[in-house]
Amino acid sequence: LVTVRELYRSRETYMDKEITIGGWVRSVRDSKAFGFIVVSDGSYFETLQVVYHDTMANFSEISKLNVGAAIIVKGTLVATPQAKQPFEIQATEILVEGASAPEYPLQKKRHTLEYLRTIPHLRARTNTFQAVFRVRSLIAYAIHQFFQERGFVYVHTPLITGSDCEGAGEMFQVTTMDLNDIPKNEDGSVDFSKDFFGKPTNLTVSGQLNVETYAMAFRNVYTFGPTFRAENSNTTRHAAEFWMIEPEIAFADLQDDMNLAESMLKYVIRYVLENAPEEMNFFNQFVDKGLLERLNGVLNSEFGHVTYTEAIEILEKHNDKFDYKVSWGCDLQTEHERYLTEEIYKRPVFVTDYPKEIKAFYMKMNPDNKTVAAMDCLVPGIGEIIGGSQREDDYEKLLARMNELGLKQEDYQFYLDLRKFGSTRHSGFGLGFERCVMYLTGMGNIRDVIPFPRTVGNCEL
Ligand code: 4AD
Ligand code: MG
Repeated sequence: LVTVRELYRSRETYMDKEITIGGWVRSVRDSKAFGFIVVSDGSYFETLQVVYHDTMANFSEISKLNVGAAIIVKGTLVATPQAKQPFEIQATEILVEGASAPEYPLQKKRHTLEYLRTIPHLRARTNTFQAVFRVRSLIAYAIHQFFQERGFVYVHTPLITGSDCEGAGEMFQVTTMDLNDIPKNEDGSVDFSKDFFGKPTNLTVSGQLNVETYAMAFRNVYTFGPTFRAENSNTTRHAAEFWMIEPEIAFADLQDDMNLAESMLKYVIRYVLENAPEEMNFFNQFVDKGLLERLNGVLNSEFGHVTYTEAIEILEKHNDKFDYKVSWGCDLQTEHERYLTEEIYKRPVFVTDYPKEIKAFYMKMNPDNKTVAAMDCLVPGIGEIIGGSQREDDYEKLLARMNELGLKQEDYQFYLDLRKFGSTRHSGFGLGFERCVMYLTGMGNIRDVIPFPRTVGNCEL
């Protein structure tokens, strides 16, 4: 089978030749002696028109095909200079592989993204999702390529863990216990001794703590896998299950970390512009009119840098515009992040040195003893896309911070050990993969960039 994308890319090779394609029917229109079928073959969001005639033995079967049927078409590719599409197939043979029932939900009309979310098993057959999920796949590939080219080791960190990296308590618990008959200790607490792991466990919120141990062996490493957060945030950019890319670099400080993040984002942008020009034009035309100009602008400029303290000073001047007023010490909300990157900087910006109270236990304390060596990368249209930091590499300081926050030393002794056996400066960050896909496609809702979204109250399929 030749693909429709191949036909578009190398049409001269196939023109006036016999070809065979396989795909799904998007529409059928028949007159008495001939008809037209529009076919989508999954290689490209563009479709191919098939013309068929009543000289075919199965002409009436074909004319009765419903949208969604799977067919194989043999015929000649011919140019159609007057038509909207550059060419079509004059079919000599059409084989019906699988008919489609008339109640097929995707009919030949525009469906809303909201409606398509209710049929996640079928929405990948529409133009928009053909483009989104092909680009999602390419972005993943580009990210691996970026790190592999630089000698980073890809580490597979566990999904089931006993620790809470971010300390936010937003974890999905994992248990084999019968929820209707949970064994209790004498003091009323849950008795985990007979549970599968013999202790409380949860799905990971981040691979960082594990990947740090490998950074202390390989220097430059990354993990790229699913992470889980039981955050009760019903927004367009939060999912309960999302993928995260987390590089960790040894002998590197916060500035090195930001340099790595900026190079990575630029690399990925360049990669999709070069390798998916059709999809990127499609998004620019139908999803987000300013997309290409914006992404090209990012390639040709440096990211902004501002400290949290400076950012608060800037934002305080615009407090009248915010639902939630800012002051030093508060966590930045999406409205503030977007204001900074969209109105003040008009490009991606790193905000650094946040108050220690609003960041995780492992971040390196700054000399002021109030802020930590943290960085968030904010981008227009989304807000935070990356969160990272230089890690506390001093055993005593880390232990003191853990004690302050009430973390149990025995749960994190492996992590403290890294500060005992050859500790070094090191830094890392987490890129939210879905937010990255949103940023590069212009799609406005995280539910539309992950095949089967898990969000508050929704776990379809
Ligand atoms: O800022 P976060 O919580 O950082 C960490 O997890 C660190 N351990 C990363 C590291 O330093 N290795 O999360 C990192 C990124 C965020 O910037 C955001 O893009 C994404 O993960 N993210 C989410 N994406 C979708 N849905 C959610 N609920 C998300 N929570 C975080
Ligand atoms: Mg964060």
